[in-house]
Order: sequence, then C-alpha cells, then structure tokens
Amino acid sequence: MGRAYKMKGQKRKNKGEKYDREEEPKQLVGNFTPQPSKKVKTDGAESEKEEKLKTVVDDMPGIPIAPLDTGNNKQGVIFVLEKASLEIGKVGKTDQLLSSDEHANYLVKNKRNPADYRPDIAFQAIQTILDSRVNKSGRLKALYVRTQLGQLMEIKPHVRMPRTYKRFSGLMVQLLQKLNITATDNGEKLLRLVKNPVTQYLPTNSRKIGFSHSSEKLIDMYNYVGNINEELDLVFVLGAMAHGKIDEDYVEDYISISEYPLSAAYAISIITNAVERKFKIL
Ligand SMILES: C[S@@+](CC[C@H](N)C(=O)[O-])C[C@H]1O[C@@H](n2cnc3c(N)ncnc32)[C@H](O)[C@@H]1O
Repeated sequence: MGRAYKMKGQKRKNKGEKYDREEEPKQLVGNFTPQPSKKVKTDGAESEKEEKLKTVVDDMPGIPIAPLDTGNNKQGVIFVLEKASLEIGKVGKTDQLLSSDEHANYLVKNKRNPADYRPDIAFQAIQTILDSRVNKSGRLKALYVRTQLGQLMEIKPHVRMPRTYKRFSGLMVQLLQKLNITATDNGEKLLRLVKNPVTQYLPTNSRKIGFSHSSEKLIDMYNYVGNINEELDLVFVLGAMAHGKIDEDYVEDYISISEYPLSAAYAISIITNAVERKFKIL
C-alpha cells in the first residue's frame, strides 16, 4: 500500500449541470512528498478500492471555491493541456517526477535532455486554471492534461490541488502509479488517468481552439471569444512543454494571443480574463 492521503470534502450545491460533474468541492490536503516506490495492484475495482487513498491531514490551507452560480445550460469552458512533462523516474530508491532542476545528472546519465523536463509548467498552468474566476463561478467543466508520453489525466475542477511544487510532484507520482486519487468519504475520483483520445470527452457542441505563438492569426482574445456563438462550449488547448508547438488534429482553429511568446500560465490568464469579461464574472 502506498502512502496514505486524505481528501477532505466540503458540500456544494449542484443545480443539474449537463456534464458529469460531482457535487462536492474537495479540499485536497496531505503531505505529497515523494516516497520510496512500492508495487501497487491496479487491476479491477476491488484492488482499486484497496488502493483507495487514506489520509494524513496537515495544515495546508485549501483554495476557497465559491458555490456554483448556476452551471446549468450556460456556455462552459474546458481546458486541455498537451505535452505536459510529467514523467516518473527511479532516482536512487525512490520514484520521482523528473525535472531539470532536481534531476539534471540523472537525466544526462539516461541520455535525456534536461531542458525537456519541466513539470513546473504544468503545475503553474493547472494552478492558474483552477484559481480562475471561470472555475470559481462554475463555468469550468473539465480539465485534461496529456503527458509527453501520451497519458491522459482528468482533473476535476473542484479539486483543491497542492499549492507547493513539492506536494504537487508527490501527488503526480501517486496518480501515475495508482491511476487515480480517490476521496475517502464518497469514493469520488478527483484525479484519474483516462483513456485516449481526449476528443471522446469533449462536448460535440464546442469550439476547439488551439494556442500557439507561431500561429499567423494574431487576435485580441476578448474580441475573439466575444464572436463565438454562445451555444458552443469553449475548449482551449495549450501546450505545457518548454519547447516546440502543439499540433493536434481535433483543434479547429489555431490562434496567437500576443506577439510575444508567453508562458502557458500567462497565456491561460489572458484566456480566462477574456472569458470572465465575456461572461461578466467579476
Ligand atoms: C511555454 S509555451 C511553449 C513554448 C513554445 N515555444 C511556443 O511558443 O508555443 C506554452 C504554451 O503557451 C501557449 N502560448 C505561448 N505564447 C503564446 C502566444 N503568443 N499565443 C498563443 N499561445 C501562446 C501555447 O499554447 C504554448 O504551447
């Protein structure tokens, strides 16, 4: 059995959203420091239950999330982060989330380019999405993160992620090893690995927009979202890697939102600000 964790719940009303969203915002508390690797059974519902994470509560403050205002048939937002550098390596005796900061020697020894190992980009991007007013107002319907190795993660919008990188990396190791992070109170899977492709989870009535500095279509994000039919949900696809660009088949339009290359987190804040203005969320 791996390290014990606890997901502490707070009730929140759900007024019948059209997505498969669970009602209770979850404060995820725990000390997510990397631990020595142990063999984990992952096959079957029973073993999943056995692996259900139990808890060590500490004093990490949660992220306050306001109750959903309606959620019902309003235009929703989904984020997909592509090419996230979230990969485990066995460093010494422990499984760790590989990063250029911490594991440069290990990566060079294993003939990898340390510059490619930047899990902090996904950490910051996820935090910016979950902290946004789009999320607090209940308009964020889903968040998917696809790793460089092609593993697809679903992160529930109401999970309270660790706010420090150290705990985040511990949590990612747990997720990649155990395939889900489950709340102890109601068994809800707050984070889980799901099958590809991501398109099967995206609403049919949605506009899938990709973001790339190299797109020739340089637009003002507020004007752009303002012109999208309100019947369509908005799917925003960004890269969570240090180099290169995203090029996904399911994206319908690639846009650039600044003449400057931005960090993923800053690009996300431009997007969420534009959407918040459009939705009149203050
Ligand atoms: C750290 S950047 C990736 C760096 C990569 N060289 C690039 O510019 O696409 C992370 C992501 O932020 C988004 N991004 C960065 N600058 C952008 C811009 N000016 N317009 C639109 N998206 C941008 C893209 O989705 C990009 O994949």
